Order: sequence, then C-alpha cells, then structure tokens
Amino acid sequence: MKKNILIVPGDGIGQEVTEVGKKVLEKIAEKFGHEFTYDEALIGHVAIEATGNPLPDETLEKMRASDAVLFGAVGHPKYDNDPSAKVRPEQGLLKMRKELGLYANLRPIKLFDELLEASSIKPEILKGSDILFFRELTGDIYFGEKGRKNDGDTAYDIAEYSRFEVERIARKAFDAARTRRKKLCSVDKANVLETSRLWREVVQQLAPEYPDVEVEHMFVDSAAMMLIKDPRRFDVVVTANLFGDILTDEASQIAGSMGMLASASIGDSTGVYEPIHGSAHDITGKGIANPLASVLSAALLLDISFGLKEESDTIIAAVDKLLKDGFRTRDIADASTPENMILNTQAAGEELLKRI
Ligand code: IPM
Ligand code: MN
Repeated sequence: MKKNILIVPGDGIGQEVTEVGKKVLEKIAEKFGHEFTYDEALIGHVAIEATGNPLPDETLEKMRASDAVLFGAVGHPKYDNDPSAKVRPEQGLLKMRKELGLYANLRPIKLFDELLEASSIKPEILKGSDILFFRELTGDIYFGEKGRKNDGDTAYDIAEYSRFEVERIARKAFDAARTRRKKLCSVDKANVLETSRLWREVVQQLAPEYPDVEVEHMFVDSAAMMLIKDPRRFDVVVTANLFGDILTDEASQIAGSMGMLASASIGDSTGVYEPIHGSAHDITGKGIANPLASVLSAALLLDISFGLKEESDTIIAAVDKLLKDGFRTRDIADASTPENMILNTQAAGEELLKRI
C-alpha cells in the first residue's frame, strides 16, 4: 500500500514521542512491504515561534493533502499563567479540529494486564476494563462565542450544539457499540443544560434504529464517580466535548497512565492520531517520556485510516510483549520494577522495534 503520512510533533515531549511513533510506522512498512512517505509540519508553540501563527496555512494544506496525520502535543507553560496572551498554542489544535471537520474523537481505554498494579485504582476493580470513548470534538463550549463584558469584569463562553452535530457522533458510537459488547452510555447534564437536553433527545430518537444496542443515559457527575467505582460496567461512552475532555483524563488512570493512551480524531477528511497526553514541559528534554501513546496512535492510524488491521495488531502485540518482558517507562514503573528494566524514551522505542 502507498500512503503519505504527515508527522506533526508539535511541542514539548510531542517531539520525543512522535519520533518513536514514526519509527514504528517505518518498521511496519518494511515488514509488510508498504510504501509510506513522510512529510513534517509545525503546530503550536513551535509554529508561533517560527511564523507567529499556531496553525500556519502551510500546515493545514499539508494535512489536507496527506492520507493521515501522526500528531504529538501542543502547549507551553509560558502561556498557561498569562491569561492575557492573544496567541496560544492550543488555538492551533482547535483550529485544526474545526478546519478538518474532526468531529469524532475516539479514545480507547484498555488496560494491559501487566499494568494492573500501575494504576492507583484497586486491581480487582480494574481487571478486564475496556471502554471506548467517543468525545465530540468540534462543538460545545469550546467553540461557542466567548468574550468579556462590563469592562472586562464579566466573562462568558457559550455552549452550543445543533441536532446534526449530536446525531453524527451518536451514530458513530452506536455503530461501534454494535461491534463490541453492544452497550452505549450517553453522558450529559440534561438536568441542568439545554444543550444536554437536545443531546439526550437526539440519542433517544436514534435508539430504535439500533435495537441490538442497550442504551443508558448518565449525568456527567455520576459518570465521573462510576468510572472509578465500577469501570467494567462501561462499553462505549459518547459525550460532549468538554465532558469528554475531563472524563478521558480521569479514565486514563484505568489504563495505568496518560502515557499509554492513544486517540483518533476522525470526520470529514484526513484523520489525526495523537496521544491524549499533553506537551509535559516538566519532563521535556529529559528523554524519559513514555512513547507508547504515540506508538498506539500509530496503530490506530493504520487500522482506522488505512484499514491495516493486521499491521495495527502487530504493534499492539509488540507493546504487550514489551510489558510482559518486564520493561517499563518511568510513569508506569512501580516499587517492584528493577531499575535496569526502566527504559528511557529512545530505549523503549528500540526494544519495541525488536518485538515488531
Ligand atoms: C486534549 C487537550 C486539548 C483539549 C487542549 C490542549 C486544548 O486537553 O486534546 O484533550 O482540551 O481538547
Ligand atoms: Mn484533554
């Protein structure tokens, strides 16, 4: 298969982990006889430094022209404590999602057996957890009108959803539930928010078209609690942009670490694949970041954008083997991990390539 992949490492550890993700793609191409070509583009803080723009037009054009994008992270601490900053790295990410119509963000939360002890949640609660989140990605309070009034003393962010926006993400979630354990949990705050009442109405209206899928509706506060109390009760979860952002960080603890979680953003055109973790400037440059989220993002890319299931499974099996062989990165190591089994980013990448 001939494909053209755009590598967009972005900021902080995005650079370090995406390098490993790319090597894994190269290895897979070599092993299975595919011809992948690569190009690179800037986003986030590094793009602001180079061009003044967190998402240069050139990057957007390259994204549109590519068959899939492997993405790192965006962000820089210098903006986090400067609420007056006019240009921010995150604007690049949000604009990319909107411009490419990436309305569905899939975040699979799957616990590798070997990491049962790495989580702060009790192993007997966790064992066998396997949740697929569908986070809506181009609407909600993220993209509604925002601003200040009363001489800047009052601020607002408007949350807005249209019927078609809820319907298209809900359909994707229903379809996925059909291929899994046939359970769909729609998370909202319909006891308070009008957008959530529309959300629930649309999901209820679609349900009869999927009689084989069992649907439940849950308020977000309750869902946040249930995720920790009984994660195994969830199969597919569909929710709005902000709720999904928060719940999937929480759910990352079910998988042991944020460093393990990959995501796929899909929609109208090119798919974008990225770790759910951020740029992590506290560990940037130390070479200790866990590259497995980027590696697993590459696996999602092959499966979803290219339909290469066997290649994708090969990567997942290699990750599994790496962990079974006792190797860990710092974030997923525990007191029982011998110091010589704790790998830095590059070494983890090398060990992984051997197992592919
Ligand atoms: C994510 C991130 C982004 C979001 C930030 C960096 C804007 O947290 O992809 O989950 O809030 O969507
Ligand atoms: Mn987030």
